[in-house]
Amino acid sequence: MWSFPLFPDQASTLASKVDALYFFLIAISIFFSILIAVLVVGLAIKYRRRSDDEKPPAIHGSLLLELTWTLIPAGIVLVIFVWSAEVYFSAVRVPKNAIEVQAVGKRWMWKIQHMTGKREINELHVPVGVPVKVTLTSEDVIHSFFIPAFRVKKDAVPGRYNTMWFEATKTGKYHLFCAEYCGTKHSGMIGTVYVMEPDAYQAWLGGEQAGASLAGAGEKLFTDLACITCHRGDSGARGPDLAGLFGKPVKLASGETVTADETYLRESIVQPAAKIVEGYQPIMPTFQGLLSEEQLLQLVAYIQGMKAEVKDEAAAPAAGAAAPSTGAR
Ligand code: CUA
Repeated sequence: MWSFPLFPDQASTLASKVDALYFFLIAISIFFSILIAVLVVGLAIKYRRRSDDEKPPAIHGSLLLELTWTLIPAGIVLVIFVWSAEVYFSAVRVPKNAIEVQAVGKRWMWKIQHMTGKREINELHVPVGVPVKVTLTSEDVIHSFFIPAFRVKKDAVPGRYNTMWFEATKTGKYHLFCAEYCGTKHSGMIGTVYVMEPDAYQAWLGGEQAGASLAGAGEKLFTDLACITCHRGDSGARGPDLAGLFGKPVKLASGETVTADETYLRESIVQPAAKIVEGYQPIMPTFQGLLSEEQLLQLVAYIQGMKAEVKDEAAAPAAGAAAPSTGAR
């Protein structure tokens, strides 16, 4: 059945789950379509008017019948709800050990960056049997990152980061499509996903020039753009300390609390005035238009990584510095 071209390969852990649910929905639809069609035709024939003076008896409802046609569909719908919620959660919850890849949509291509700094266009190389998290954004209009064989599809929206994940189960070549109409060459915005054995993948990753990692490129930007002059983490700093910030709640001047996720970091770089951290002045200049989406992702990758390393070094002095100042108040 799977050689029938209507159905793409099942090449991810999600594929069989999505297909099982899909075929269940199809089966339910076919069953009830046939049942209803047979009843309509059959009953129309059975209860046809046989003579001109024939009058049908008046019927004043039936509790049993009404309960039946209420409870059976309610039960079926609940099964569909629980089942699809289960599939949805497994599609949305990214496993902790996922490797990360960044994809930027642009009319009309996909630009991919790996954490090692390796880049590719309209091609995505991934290892088999390893969860891969893709962070998606767009440089211009809305695109949609679609790998039919993995049963995953997610919009790439300008100005925000969306994530998707998959775990490939079969090595090989698979289609990558843009699934959101994005202009003249939308139909040409296609690519290939290469699923490789982990060894071959490692060889491919390290094969080319050992360029700077994404976080390394981000660190260089951080220095070149002089972010460090304000975000330097001591008490006189004009900007919030970024070490250990990622994933933590941030108290804003407006009283709100937000989580320092990828989208928050990106927004704070291109639109610093949007969310002012409590205790700081809105003095940061915008970097809108000065950085490409790829560079923004590099900076975000660097800030994300400032978690462990900087924290360990800074933990002792920071705690020491904080204690007297709180005591003074
Ligand atoms: Cu990009 Cu359609």
